[in-house]
Amino acid sequence: MPAVPMIALNNGVEIPQLGLGLWQIANADMPKVVEAALNAGYRLFDTAAIYGNEASLGQALRRSSVPRSEIFVTTKLWNDEQGYERTLNAFEASLARLGLDYVDLYLIHWPQPMRNKYVETWQAFEKIYRGGKARAIGVSNFGPAHLERLLATANVVPSINQIELNPQFQQTALCAFDRAHGIATQSWSPLARGDFSDPVVEALARKHGKTPAQIVLRWHIERGLIAIPRSSHPARIRENIAIFDFALDADDMAKFTALDTARRTGPDPATF
Ligand SMILES: NC(=O)c1ccc[n+]([C@@H]2O[C@H](COP(=O)([O-])OP(=O)(O)OC[C@H]3O[C@@H](n4cnc5c(N)ncnc54)[C@H](OP(=O)(O)O)[C@@H]3O)[C@@H](O)[C@H]2O)c1
Repeated sequence: MPAVPMIALNNGVEIPQLGLGLWQIANADMPKVVEAALNAGYRLFDTAAIYGNEASLGQALRRSSVPRSEIFVTTKLWNDEQGYERTLNAFEASLARLGLDYVDLYLIHWPQPMRNKYVETWQAFEKIYRGGKARAIGVSNFGPAHLERLLATANVVPSINQIELNPQFQQTALCAFDRAHGIATQSWSPLARGDFSDPVVEALARKHGKTPAQIVLRWHIERGLIAIPRSSHPARIRENIAIFDFALDADDMAKFTALDTARRTGPDPATF
């Protein structure tokens, strides 16, 4: 099976273009899920403090024979831990739960503009980064206004902005903003949480002999995005990574344009 392409972040660290999302993956399922993913070729795992499964992810990774250096672990700071000191403590607690010496990527989970703390939180992220315990740092669910405010005082430009992005919610303007600032865009809910009812996607699936999920994930890849689909089923975990042996052409890609309803499936970062 062709390998997952790597994307170079703005600090030179490389991240696989496809990884496994772990939101709502139960601790009891983690060994099976991680084993299936590693065997299928996944090397990127996306967790968060709030998911409650950092410890079971760390245990599952330690059980595997894949070297730590080949694995890319992302975790995220939860909202009520924002603030300089709280962030430093929350990061150490995440590392301890994961049982790791470092993470590959640490993200501010939501901007939480009503708390007005993401600028000082970012200063703590920069300290963590300089200390070498996070190979890259970034944000999640940040819009242009949040990023502009953060960039006004930042010494380190975020490597990634992880945002809701799927064919129904394509976020073209925010992707352009990220790109213009050297920030890679990562798609959460890349499958719109499993909604594949669209006839355009079904027709492309028939044309390419692929499943609708594979068509949608390939669309993310063609757009240069980093996607982190979730599944708790080994067969689907394998299905979702089997997308590097075909390509969508310009006509196929154009068909997606009409699918953008500009409607989120998840919360709005301005108010959440
Ligand atoms: N930063 C943030 O604020 C944020 C927010 C949300 C999510 N995320 C991250 O992004 C990851 C992915 O997003 P998500 O979990 O919301 O949704 P998603 O990956 O878009 O969709 C997951 C759903 O699709 C189903 N599915 C997966 N593969 C399938 C396939 N091949 N065929 C049919 N159904 C399939 C899964 O069901 P089964 O499990 O039953 O297969 C699950 O119900 C999360 O796990 C998390 O790591 C981040």
